[in-house]
Amino acid sequence: MEISRVDVLGRDMAHIGYNLQKHIVKQLLTEITSSTYVVITDKNIEDRGHLQNLVDELAAGINEYGVDSRILTYVIPPGEASKNRATKAAIEDWLLTQGCTRDTVILALGGGVIGDMIGYVAATFMRGVRVVQIPTTLLAMVDSSIGGKTAIDTPHGKNLLGAFWQPQRVFMDIRYLETLPEREFINGMAEVIKTAAFYDEEEFSRLEAGGATFLKAIRNRDPSNIHQVDLSDIKELIHKIVLGSVKIKATVVSADEREGGLRNLLNFGHTIGHAYEAILTPQILHGECVSLGMIKEAELSRYLGILSPVAVARLAKCLTSYDLPVSLNDKVLKKRSGGKICPVDDLLKIMAVDKKNDGQKKKVVLISAIGKTYEQKASIVSDKDIRVVISEEIIVGSNADAPASVTVTPPGSKSISNRALVLSALAQGTCRISNLLHSDDTEHMLNAVTLLGGATVAWEDDGQTLVLTGNGGELKAPAKELYLGNAGTASRFLATVALLVNKSEKADSVTLTGNNRMKQRPIGPLVDSLRANGSKIDYVENEGSLPLKIDAGVGLQGGLIELAATISSQYVSSILMCAPYAKQPVTLSLVGGKPISQFYIDMTVAMMKTFGINVERSTTKEHTYHIPQGVYVNPSHYEIESDASSATYPLAFAAITGTSCTIPNIGSGSLQGDARFAVDVLRPMGCEVTQTATSTTVQGPPVGKLLPLPHVDMEPMTDAFLTASVVAAIAQGTDGVNNTTQITGIANQRVKECNRIAAMIHELAKFGVTCRELPDGLEIDGRLIGDLKRPADGVYAYDDHRVAMSFSLLASTLPEDVLIQERRCVEKTWPGWWDVLHTTFNVPLTGHDAQTSELKSRAVNGDKSIIIVGMRGAGKTLIGEWAASTLGFSFLDLDTQFEQELKTPIVDYVKTNGWPSFRQEETRILNEFIKNHPEGYVASCGGGVVESEEARQSLQAYVARGGIVLHVHRATADIVSYLTTDSSRPSLGAEDLASVYARREPLYTSCSSHVFVSANTENSAEIAAVRKSFNSFLSTITGQKPVTIPTNRSFFLSLTYSNVAEAAINDFADITAGCAAVELRVDLLKQADNQLASLEYVNDQIALIRKYTSLPIIFTVRTKSQGGQYPDDNEEGLLELTLNAFRAGVAYVDIELSSTAGFIDSVVQKKGHTKLIASHHDFSGALKWSNPIWENKYAQGLLVGDIVKLVATARTFEDNIELERFRSTHTAKPLIAINMGFRGQMSRVVNSILTPVTHPSLPAKAAPGQLSIKEINETFSKLGGIEPRDYAIVGSPIQHSRSPALHNSGFDALGLPFDYGMLETTEPAIAAKFFSSLPSFGGASITIPLKEKIIPHLNYITDDALAINAVNTVVKDENGRLIGDNTDWIGIINAFNVAGLASIAGQDKSALIIGAGGTSKAAVYALNRLGFTTIYIINRTAEKAQNVADAFNTRDEKYNVKAISDIAEAKAAISPSVAVSCVPADKPLDTNLVSILDVFLQKESKTDKKFLLEAAYKPRVTPIMTLASETHGWEVIPGVNMLLEQGLEQFRIWTGYNAPKTVCKTSVELE
Ligand SMILES: NC(=O)c1ccc[n+]([C@@H]2O[C@H](COP(=O)([O-])OP(=O)(O)OC[C@H]3O[C@@H](n4cnc5c(N)ncnc54)[C@H](O)[C@@H]3O)[C@@H](O)[C@H]2O)c1
Ligand SMILES: [Zn+2]
Repeated sequence: MEISRVDVLGRDMAHIGYNLQKHIVKQLLTEITSSTYVVITDKNIEDRGHLQNLVDELAAGINEYGVDSRILTYVIPPGEASKNRATKAAIEDWLLTQGCTRDTVILALGGGVIGDMIGYVAATFMRGVRVVQIPTTLLAMVDSSIGGKTAIDTPHGKNLLGAFWQPQRVFMDIRYLETLPEREFINGMAEVIKTAAFYDEEEFSRLEAGGATFLKAIRNRDPSNIHQVDLSDIKELIHKIVLGSVKIKATVVSADEREGGLRNLLNFGHTIGHAYEAILTPQILHGECVSLGMIKEAELSRYLGILSPVAVARLAKCLTSYDLPVSLNDKVLKKRSGGKICPVDDLLKIMAVDKKNDGQKKKVVLISAIGKTYEQKASIVSDKDIRVVISEEIIVGSNADAPASVTVTPPGSKSISNRALVLSALAQGTCRISNLLHSDDTEHMLNAVTLLGGATVAWEDDGQTLVLTGNGGELKAPAKELYLGNAGTASRFLATVALLVNKSEKADSVTLTGNNRMKQRPIGPLVDSLRANGSKIDYVENEGSLPLKIDAGVGLQGGLIELAATISSQYVSSILMCAPYAKQPVTLSLVGGKPISQFYIDMTVAMMKTFGINVERSTTKEHTYHIPQGVYVNPSHYEIESDASSATYPLAFAAITGTSCTIPNIGSGSLQGDARFAVDVLRPMGCEVTQTATSTTVQGPPVGKLLPLPHVDMEPMTDAFLTASVVAAIAQGTDGVNNTTQITGIANQRVKECNRIAAMIHELAKFGVTCRELPDGLEIDGRLIGDLKRPADGVYAYDDHRVAMSFSLLASTLPEDVLIQERRCVEKTWPGWWDVLHTTFNVPLTGHDAQTSELKSRAVNGDKSIIIVGMRGAGKTLIGEWAASTLGFSFLDLDTQFEQELKTPIVDYVKTNGWPSFRQEETRILNEFIKNHPEGYVASCGGGVVESEEARQSLQAYVARGGIVLHVHRATADIVSYLTTDSSRPSLGAEDLASVYARREPLYTSCSSHVFVSANTENSAEIAAVRKSFNSFLSTITGQKPVTIPTNRSFFLSLTYSNVAEAAINDFADITAGCAAVELRVDLLKQADNQLASLEYVNDQIALIRKYTSLPIIFTVRTKSQGGQYPDDNEEGLLELTLNAFRAGVAYVDIELSSTAGFIDSVVQKKGHTKLIASHHDFSGALKWSNPIWENKYAQGLLVGDIVKLVATARTFEDNIELERFRSTHTAKPLIAINMGFRGQMSRVVNSILTPVTHPSLPAKAAPGQLSIKEINETFSKLGGIEPRDYAIVGSPIQHSRSPALHNSGFDALGLPFDYGMLETTEPAIAAKFFSSLPSFGGASITIPLKEKIIPHLNYITDDALAINAVNTVVKDENGRLIGDNTDWIGIINAFNVAGLASIAGQDKSALIIGAGGTSKAAVYALNRLGFTTIYIINRTAEKAQNVADAFNTRDEKYNVKAISDIAEAKAAISPSVAVSCVPADKPLDTNLVSILDVFLQKESKTDKKFLLEAAYKPRVTPIMTLASETHGWEVIPGVNMLLEQGLEQFRIWTGYNAPKTVCKTSVELE
């Protein structure tokens, strides 16, 4: 192969050829001489042997030429992530240590990444050294290596730093491409196509033809050596492609080196493409993003009326033929990107920082035709227009500015296009066909007639006009088979055409084939008929379908041909069109009854006439046609009539806006049924319709004057009924009484893209338009335009182009904006519809981001009902009721539903009717639930529901639609003990429970989206704890309130138990004190048999943690090479564990970035609302923080994780300083960065969010050097990280207060430099003085008598404190302001919860308060929050009780507080299930009060347990406690519990940390 040379900027620059090694070396050593050649490349290229080859060759050359040069090499990690500052700096440092000087020549051996970065290194090293580019990817050859642009990326965006630096030479050796992966090849082709698309139509045409050959060649790989591909077949082609692109790039660059204007054109597809790339990198490659960008920018040109729809279609088709993506919905692309979303706002923001912008204005290269740009530079385009094009949904504005009169040519009719191609190809002479519809059918048809030698084909007017020269029906058998994809019409028409083929030197038969779908579609009746007529046609595979093998040279015999035409009129048209070429004149007789779609037959006959053949319809015999022999003659020009169904939309637009619209190529002579729409529908509705044989003009009546149509039969034009319906929706009539339009004859529209009748009725209702469904149509009651409603959530298009287009018309009649979802569906028939609506009809359009709204709807379960499955006895009812009460849903037990509906207990039903019948009914009830209760319910299913295949499918479908099916479980032993006491359900028979569960477990898993396991609970306090955890679980899985990542200094505890049960529940609160999360190190878990944890065991452990604490769980599995215990070679198991964690709704999952891409992809896709911590560990200590690896991993972490975690190993103390430097420059996402080991301890002290910590009571530290919170805080405060603070209790009397003990013990346990003292005073002013004069003041507890009086001295008080009108907590915020809060009410709630108060929501329950002092108000507030709907209050002085009641009742009637002042009232009250005593305990009780209290305490109770909470804690046992517990059997909660709980809350408010509860409790109780 010759070496081609291309000059750039007047210099000898690019050398293109094959196997250039020797040439390169010679050039270097003779023309680009240097003492030092530095070859820099990436690891992949080194691994393919290219580095060694070049170095060997160079060494040999040095020898041969006798020069004195040295060779240095440097290899960086492959990929975009290396293109950063850190890598650049590392290379520079290395060059300096190697003593490189100004005469150095750097050889950039690699793809665009190497070229860009090494080019930039060269540009700045020693103020610039020479660089030689040796591109090894197709992309680098055709694009990045030419032009001198160099760059690196920063976290702010790609290519933001760089320089223009021209290389000495660019050597493009095609041999390097022999090791290029397939995807990189395709990636490079995007730039090739780009260049042709804006600059060279001829080259583009060549590319259009070459896709298949190209793909075949690059895919032809030997499975044993996939890294190598034999390019000999396309070597020349690639040479040509590269040369072509390089020449164009050279021309443009030479004219404009620094991107003044012309060079900008190279950015076609890049403005939008780069925005996609910014989000989708590194999963999606540059060229792939440019491919997406080109289509969007071409669509933008079309939207602005600059580019024809045909050109956009051509571009899309060309890109697709190289397997490049043209839509974000592309399946492969979605899979590769892990379904990453590209929110429109983000894309626009990214475009806003594009270097090429003109200030704030965005620049886009618009093309006006293939190979031609609109301007000689990039054009300025508004955000609004870009937004429309890149959005998936569209907002339609008002048609108020509709132009008075327009002409619109909708896309060509499909049926006419297909017929015209066959007729014209069989004819003699040349025909220019315009307005041809581009579809699969026409593509395949054209391809086939060309291959059969029947016609030659060319395009004019940038693809607008097809120039077809027919061969008069002379066809030759082609060498290969005719592939027709899934093009149905083409296959039927061509089946008869193929009979006319003559033998050729290449073949003596024709084979028609298609894709798999095509191979199922029927063609039998046509083949039968032709065989009966003497033709030889064989089925190659399945009888009755393609492929067909047709003998050439036999011909069509003619004479009488009989055809069964009740299935498809296409068979008839096929024979009709070929009949003139039969050996005998043909008489075609259609048998078997009335032929289907007569009017298509008429269309064929009419078109044959235009091409010169007159078919005669028999006057004597039904359904019989006489076709004379003859040859078609091409008219010089044939314009394909526009599609008449499409034409109804612009015509209807005129009708509703009172304007005029002309369709220039559909008239009274039209062959299409829908062409009657103007005359048969719009005219009687009050429009003026003017028609010639070939055109139609509609002038609408003044706005609001459309008339309803009492009845119209739309059978001949069924597709137009949707258009008619939206016009009818605003046809109100003059009298306003008769406003109903009735449309019939459209029953078939129920089975189109959707049930169109139902769809219209449903969507019209959103506009406030009433419709009634008829057996074969509908009735619509028209409204005044002014009375239409605006559909709040927009119009749903059912993925049906006709629904979308007709509603865009109705939407435009409203003055407000209306959203149309799924706007892309119009692409099926009229891709440019929105452009016409906007550009021709002046309707303002706005893009709307479906992706983010989809994201939003996926983000939260909303009110969608939740279904619970699981074993009987697993706790479905309890959990279901919890879920219902938390979400405000209703709970439904489907077993109960069963018994109610079938009026028989399940046990009896099974006895009488057997299991199968029971399962059937059970499934029916489940399906009805799903159908009838989509929102607002939690339903629990019977345990065996998953045994039915149909029920499983329903559940799986529910999950697939984004619903939650929750598998509830608890340890089998617990279930057994429960079930032995339950006889309300039929026995499962001999099968023991464990084996039933073993059988069902996989079924539950396959049918559910989530799993909640509850640990065995021993008392109501534990139940309350599980419930709290369940609520967090629910928040996570519904997305209602997923965990928020802490932004302040925070910690998580790394559990190292092999079984969490080793920890006592009470310890747990202490060891997790101060923590924001707990980490379950799953790999450290060991089952009893010392085996690694099974899934079930892991779930049990999660359950246990959830009983111990409601802190968020971090789920971590470390493999052996990652410093853990999990085996390294079991990725499948690891994935299973991780996905299970998502099902279990844990808050965080930690994954290693060194996992395989496949693993990471699946995890990212399935994570739901769980947050990902993307981690990387270096145990070796070999990697300093300045090593680019960390930069790399950080960049990768940003993409994958919600949090990035980087863990190194410190060798020296200075490593900590290095780390802080890294930390301070990497702030794009929350970062956990630490150094392991003794020397790394400082980093654990300084790390800010989620520092992993240990606790002295744990069996081991999870990592070397790990510290406790106490150690960290103590060190950090000594270093000046935490300022000392003072707190105090303020009030009187306070000498006996236990608060100082409580808080000081907590501060101490967490190593906080805080101190809690006392200020005894009754004067608010003194207290206020204290707060403001003490610089270290942090906060105070306020007690009697200051709780109310202190309020005026504070800066503001919280809503809770305001509602209670009392402050017990003061906190100083970071701005020095004093905030008043109240924690008494939380103390009350928590004390009840800890004591085990069960669920009360949804029930009419009452509570009692004794006393009417300050605490009683907190009690009212707390009891209301707990869900009590009636609250009684009694007091020594009735008046004070009444005051409290009034204060709340007047604020909000929800409080419903009733003051009770005598025995009679007390007797009439509802029995309370809880009471709070707020009377001072150091005084004797009032006897009157006691007698009323007695009445309350002795009331009959519906609940098993009644609780009385004492607010006073001195003495420990108060008279009221004794009365309640000893006389009336109430459970009493001592005051110290409330004191403790409210104090713990105070501690949390002051420090931001959970307090060590047991430590505090012990110190409070010590006396
Ligand atoms: N400067 C410019 O004008 C310009 C223009 C376009 C793109 N770019 C930049 O180019 C970069 C993309 O370039 P790229 O697609 O070449 O990426 P790349 O350099 O990352 O190469 C792609 C992959 O192919 C591997 N590879 C390279 N040559 C190989 C060979 N011969 N055999 C086997 N594997 C090989 C690489 O290791 C890498 O994994 C982006 O950073 C982009 O911004 C720059
Ligand atoms: Zn590019």
